Amino acid sequence: MSAAFPARSALGGAPPHPETGRREFLSRILLRLTGGLSTLAALAPLPGYLRSARRDSDVGGTTDAGPLASLPTGTARVVPHRGRPALVVRLPDGPVAFRAVCTHLGCIVHWDGKRGEMRCPCHGARYDLSGRPISGPARGPLAPIPVAVEKGAIRLG
Ligand code: FES
Repeated sequence: MSAAFPARSALGGAPPHPETGRREFLSRILLRLTGGLSTLAALAPLPGYLRSARRDSDVGGTTDAGPLASLPTGTARVVPHRGRPALVVRLPDGPVAFRAVCTHLGCIVHWDGKRGEMRCPCHGARYDLSGRPISGPARGPLAPIPVAVEKGAIRLG
């Protein structure tokens, strides 16, 4: 016990009463526990906030991808959708959309209107109009995104 609490006499003062040393020790422990609990209490809402933020972005409704009239057939635009870029392409039958994230290493895929396909600028992956890879290092298809046209506006689901 005395090894954990050096005697004050070693510092030039009177040795502490054994009860005083124990009280100081307990006070310090309680102070640290209280501080730790306060920190935990302050951070307690954080996981819930992060979960709700994720839920909102994953489930939270649709994305307005702009007016259909401003996207001529054979053109495309990239819009943010649930925290990631989405590529919206206007085909003769209507708009289609995909996550614009290359399945090789995650670069942003672009629309190549001359060839009528989607291309990745990083390593040259090419995707057809259904999102399937047709050449290059990508092995998986681009993830499709549901599209609807409501009151002349393109909406991504
Ligand atoms: Fe797209 Fe490599 S990241 S081809």
